[in-house]
Amino acid sequence: MPSFLPVLWKDQRLFILDQTLLPLEKIMVELDNAQAVWDAIKSLQVRGAPAIGVCAAYGMIVGIREQDPGDDSAFRAAAAKVKIFLATSRPTAVNLFYALDRMEACLNQCGESTPQQLFDLLEKEATAIFDEDVAMCRAIGAHGASLIDEGMGILTHCNAGGLATSGYGTALAPLYTAHEQGRRFRVYADETRPLLQGARLTAWELMESGIDVTLLCDNMAAMLLASGKVDIVIVGADRIAANGDTANKIGTYGVALLAKHHGIPFYVAAPASTFDAQTATGADIPIEERDADEVRCHGGKLLAPPQVKVYNPAFDVTPMELITGFITDQGILSGARE
Ligand code: MRU
Repeated sequence: MPSFLPVLWKDQRLFILDQTLLPLEKIMVELDNAQAVWDAIKSLQVRGAPAIGVCAAYGMIVGIREQDPGDDSAFRAAAAKVKIFLATSRPTAVNLFYALDRMEACLNQCGESTPQQLFDLLEKEATAIFDEDVAMCRAIGAHGASLIDEGMGILTHCNAGGLATSGYGTALAPLYTAHEQGRRFRVYADETRPLLQGARLTAWELMESGIDVTLLCDNMAAMLLASGKVDIVIVGADRIAANGDTANKIGTYGVALLAKHHGIPFYVAAPASTFDAQTATGADIPIEERDADEVRCHGGKLLAPPQVKVYNPAFDVTPMELITGFITDQGILSGARE
């Protein structure tokens, strides 16, 4: 089981494990104003749908405190301002909006109060969001572990592990639980270009937990699946539309197509906070486009002509018909794939 905390609220201060430095350095940084929270989410210092949500919930408190509101109405005005600001950090993961909406609803349900009472209320709500995520990831692990047999090969894409949540993961949770139950298996981690979450984060956290992991470049997945070494694919999700279409890290859709071609089950693991009943289909999910230099460069080094045009969507949508099932905190739900 992971031994790190991606988001930590301690003595009413917000810290995150800076994921842009992993796996070389394991450094916690403090976020003490709204801009720092926004930057940390945007730059992927904190990332993964549930972790973004938890960070934004505590980030609301940090951002309101920075404005030093003197009374109830100043507090509510400050909260509205921070909420609007943090909501602009990244568009795809619905957990961000879920957490911000919960913080707002919590304030709206409370009558006139002192700033201290409102701070206490929001701190309780953010901690509830954190604790619920811990419990949901554990439940995903408990349900999903039934899919993991001794000796299996599992392919995952991006990082939907402890780092992407409050500590235990979604796609990796069934693996942690099966490992805790004594089963041994092989995990294959796609490197996940352009930002290498699979190489830098998934490979690192599985190795830290003593789980057998093999890294591959994204363009090796077809060969791997054709080889018969993979029995199941499990990925995370940033947003699941009402019809089951699922947005996740760019490249997930390709893996789902490959899994179907090779007759390998394809599962999406996600907590309740990732299901978005307000978004009808995958076509309605906003897809983040990121900076061109993420593709042109790596580690500060140019890999391509500096002016080359770049296509850099951060996520893609896997249609429901390619999904075998959803591993949720409530149990395993059927997808639409035969
Ligand atoms: O851009 P990122 O690194 O935030 O993308 C993360 C993913 O796509 C994860 O698979 C998803 O958020 C699920 S995390 C449990």
